[in-house]
Amino acid sequence: MDQYDQDICVVGGAGHVGLPLALAFAAAGQRVIINDLNTAAMDVIKSGRMPFIEYGAEPLLAEALKANRLLFSSDPRDIARAKYVIVTIGTPVDEYLNPKLRALLDLFKQLRQYLRPSQTIVIRSTVFPRTCRQVERLLSQDGNQWRVAYCPERIAQGFAIKELKELPQIVSGSSPEAVESATALFDMVAPEIVHLEIEEAELAKLFSNAWRYIQFAAANQFYMLANSIGVDFNHVREAMVRGYGRAATLPSAGFAAGPCLLKDTMQLAAFNNNSFPLGHAAMAINEGLPNFLVDMVSRRHNLSETRVGILGMAFKADIDDIRDSLSYKLGKVLRFHGADVLYSDEFVKDPTFVSKEELIARAQVVIVGVPHTAYKALVLPPHIDAVDLWGVLGKPSCHGVM
Ligand SMILES: NC(=O)c1ccc[n+]([C@@H]2O[C@H](COP(=O)([O-])OP(=O)(O)OC[C@H]3O[C@@H](n4cnc5c(N)ncnc54)[C@H](O)[C@@H]3O)[C@@H](O)[C@H]2O)c1
Repeated sequence: MDQYDQDICVVGGAGHVGLPLALAFAAAGQRVIINDLNTAAMDVIKSGRMPFIEYGAEPLLAEALKANRLLFSSDPRDIARAKYVIVTIGTPVDEYLNPKLRALLDLFKQLRQYLRPSQTIVIRSTVFPRTCRQVERLLSQDGNQWRVAYCPERIAQGFAIKELKELPQIVSGSSPEAVESATALFDMVAPEIVHLEIEEAELAKLFSNAWRYIQFAAANQFYMLANSIGVDFNHVREAMVRGYGRAATLPSAGFAAGPCLLKDTMQLAAFNNNSFPLGHAAMAINEGLPNFLVDMVSRRHNLSETRVGILGMAFKADIDDIRDSLSYKLGKVLRFHGADVLYSDEFVKDPTFVSKEELIARAQVVIVGVPHTAYKALVLPPHIDAVDLWGVLGKPSCHGVM
């Protein structure tokens, strides 16, 4: 039996999924190796700060550093030191919206020489269906029985520390031993374990994100439809959901952006021979929303003589992550049509951005790009034409009513 001087190694441990998970396990008393190629992010973490916004994480980080429960490494050889290896690297789609199928398999090819059959390998990244079986096949080419588990991450970015304690954890594995071992691992941090077969777990994760993406598309389509006859969708939605459970899950309209929802919907489409009409329709609606807004504004203003301010550049509220944010697409389309565009954000640090006060003072049109809490009390002067998809602003506007 191999001897391990560490409990868990999180590969991709400096990332948005890996780091909160590493901290949750460290808080549960585990010795955790944060293995990542991003040495700049690891330096920030070592200094006791988070490299991105994750609510509630810094006290756990301070505690873990103080207790010497974290070890930082970019050396793949250190992976051999831990009983559990959890893989949380990114699994993007390419510029043609095709999943980069090889990314995870290539990683395992590289890591193979450092992995041991006595370890439990936990895949946590969101994967193209059947990837985990391929990983298992790849590892077992040496004739050993490997324990490969798939335990997808389902947290909302920024709120992982809270949600890891609250969400049931899906656990699946290549053998009863793999399932048993991964169950013992997640029993330390999760309130409940739900067991599935590997393929079921892969689909459960992808379906969850595609379902959310389709729900947002329904709301966005309703928003555009209502808007086309001058009706305020938020007002309609409030009436629909009030005391009426069957409509309660209708989200508000807004940009459905970020690195996961579109990507995972397209993974499903690719898996199904590119036949996912509902997913593709959702993409057309959600990705078309910035263009719809520009068209709407251009009917009221000559864009080449208009300064437009975008309030909020992160991909969702109250975080600092701009990955695949549709606010940037909105800005690009506005500029293409000749508008002068100002950007502002409460969390994203960019020297070209202006404060929300300056943006409001200088813009004729203000579009809310993301509903940061800081915008809730914001009252815009009456001369500003406000486009407020979520209805967050502190005054009734053309398109958003509190
Ligand atoms: N971000 C979310 O909210 C979220 C939620 C659920 C699931 N997911 C899924 O989790 C996975 C990771 O997403 P993320 O947002 O954390 O990505 P991320 O880019 O924030 O983190 C990935 C980390 O992996 C590191 N990395 C890449 N290759 C490596 C290698 N060979 N060795 C060591 N480290 C390596 C990167 O440096 C990075 O720090 C994706 O599959 C994503 O779809 C993300």
